[in-house]
Amino acid sequence: MAKLSALLAACLLLQTTSATLWPIPTQEFTQGNKTLWMSEKVSLEFGRGSDDAASCGSSKDGYGGNELNRFTNAATGSKKIRDAWARTQTALFNNNIVPWKFHPKGSNYEPSWNSGTKINRVVVTQTGEDVDMPTYNQMKEAYNLTIPDGCDTVYITAESSLGVLHAFHTLEQLFYATARRSRNVWGKGPVKISDSPKFKHRGLNLDVSRQWYPKEAILRTIDALAFNKMNRLHLHATDSQSWPLEIPSMPELAKKGSYAPGLTYTPQDLQEILDFAEARGIQVIVEIDMPGHTTSIAEAFPELIVGKNKQPNWDTYAAQPPSGSLKLNNKAVEDFTSKLFDDLLPRLNKHTQYYHTGGDEVNKNVYALDPGVGSNEVAKIRPGLQKFIDHLHSDVKKHKMTPFVWEEMLLDWGLNLTKEAIVQTWQTDAAAKNATGMGHQIIGGNYNYWYLDCGHGQWLDFGGPNGAQKFYPYNDYCSPRKNWRLIYSYSPDQFLTKEEAKLVLGGEVHIWSEQIDAESLDVTLWPRGSAAAEVLWSGRQDASGKNRTFADASPRLGEFRERLVARGVQAQPVMQLWCHQNLGDCQLDA
Ligand SMILES: *[C@@H]1O[C@H](CO)[C@@H](O)[C@H](O)[C@H]1NC(C)=O
Ligand SMILES: *[C@@H]1O[C@H](CO)[C@@H](O)[C@H](O)[C@H]1NC(C)=O
Ligand SMILES: *[C@@H]1O[C@H](CO)[C@@H](O)[C@H](O)[C@H]1NC(C)=O
Ligand SMILES: *[C@@H]1O[C@H](CO)[C@@H](O)[C@H](O)[C@H]1NC(C)=O
Ligand SMILES: *[C@@H]1O[C@H](CO)[C@@H](O)[C@H](O)[C@H]1NC(C)=O
Repeated sequence: MAKLSALLAACLLLQTTSATLWPIPTQEFTQGNKTLWMSEKVSLEFGRGSDDAASCGSSKDGYGGNELNRFTNAATGSKKIRDAWARTQTALFNNNIVPWKFHPKGSNYEPSWNSGTKINRVVVTQTGEDVDMPTYNQMKEAYNLTIPDGCDTVYITAESSLGVLHAFHTLEQLFYATARRSRNVWGKGPVKISDSPKFKHRGLNLDVSRQWYPKEAILRTIDALAFNKMNRLHLHATDSQSWPLEIPSMPELAKKGSYAPGLTYTPQDLQEILDFAEARGIQVIVEIDMPGHTTSIAEAFPELIVGKNKQPNWDTYAAQPPSGSLKLNNKAVEDFTSKLFDDLLPRLNKHTQYYHTGGDEVNKNVYALDPGVGSNEVAKIRPGLQKFIDHLHSDVKKHKMTPFVWEEMLLDWGLNLTKEAIVQTWQTDAAAKNATGMGHQIIGGNYNYWYLDCGHGQWLDFGGPNGAQKFYPYNDYCSPRKNWRLIYSYSPDQFLTKEEAKLVLGGEVHIWSEQIDAESLDVTLWPRGSAAAEVLWSGRQDASGKNRTFADASPRLGEFRERLVARGVQAQPVMQLWCHQNLGDCQLDA
């Protein structure tokens, strides 16, 4: 009798655990509560063909009649999937989480060992061919993932390998480790997921100029981006402070412009970053910001830059020290940018059709010092700037790429841009409205929400008692820090009409590196970047058009954070543990 009531008590404490996917699938997600165990010997089978319904055991191989290529003789393109599957197995069996943080103290949430179904196979069907360097319109990221009732097989179908990679990351999140033995991996079924992203461009802008980031930190971040189902790394590769990118045809650029010998990216490093990203479905969009933010060029080519490091009144000539801009109406500058693009773009355009030409925060006063302009008036600067941008963009086109520009070129300077130019907005929602209103596709990421560097406070040394008093308590321009809830509340298409919203390709969170480097990157980026990742993949609103709630998001994000940590990413906690253990008890309804 005592034994029976103990058993009964255990049963009452047994909670059903449904997986807490991040980002949440967009079309369909249903999950039963029958126990699944993932066999350590689970095999991957890969086929190409039509998308027959996954129906367990309906034909030989339990697969809807298509010819199945085992990996030993798999078709082209499968190496990407095989490698991704190897990473998935590592995540499932070596780096999985025991979800104790998400159950009340003392509860028994793990299924008993001899219950349920064992998963022996993952069957992947890719229904279309991969396109190299897909444009936004060519990207096929949708996938279906099904574990039929009582079946030993996970079925994944997707049009391209991009969808398969996303499905693997979802699969990882459906399973947990057990407390007693980490390689015993369990989940709940049956499962039916149909998923595709809301936005096509889901990215991070990483500034690797103001601080130098070791290649390993960039690779680790790319892997984490992919786990978040993000698909773009915008590498803000150079700036006024340093030029870390080695350009073989002009070796003096990085030799003299980098912070120190070795703090550079060799062509091999860049290639490794591009390949590593491509293997994970991520396109790297490199930006060489110009004509502002270029002073580091002056270390090698002083004749190309006007207003180099004006002191002490640098703030007349630039938003940050050191001041300096590429000269306008200057043949040597045009020859320089052509030579730079001839070197760099043929290496990039094997991986992406997009390149970022910069164009933010161009200072007017510095052009009064430029013999080619001689004025700080917009009307006098504009023709030279238009000529400069026309030259850059025609070179980008020559290399079969499409340019990005920062919003200022279009909105502040009123330049004429080719209609293909994609505008990156950052200052206001009005910027997004105006740029789309003018017919440009845009990338959003308003700094009031998606700048992850905000809230660190000032980094300038304020001189004298006046400065020290004037700027007290030393907040930065975009304080306070943007917490994940604020990030989650924003969408790059907010306040746009339906027509305008169609031109929003997506958005980026931003890491400007004045006070962030590789030591603090993870904790700054994650899980706040994940909040943006869900907005970009799943949308700010659910299928019924309602804003997704924090109560829905926080347990899922909390668990996702644990998975990031298990992968070696030092992400911050989402909320205090007690709130995760006592779901719903940390609600405040004002
Ligand atoms: C499992 O799901 C079924 C169907 O939704 C439900 O009736 C049953 O109560 C659930 N069992 C547990 C233990 O939660
Ligand atoms: C997923 O399943 C739905 C419904 O069966 C189907 O319409 C869709 O084409 C499938 N998507 C993929 C990527 O296989
Ligand atoms: C943009 O194009 C219009 C129409 O062709 C022209 O009037 C204007 O001067 C151009 N703007 C610049 C900055 O060149
Ligand atoms: C957007 O356009 C409106 C109307 O022309 C203008 O008043 C506003 O300054 C513009 N804002 C930006 C950021 O371009
Ligand atoms: C949904 O969220 C947006 C952005 O935070 C907000 O402006 C809007 O009022 C919210 N809508 C509702 C119905 O709460």
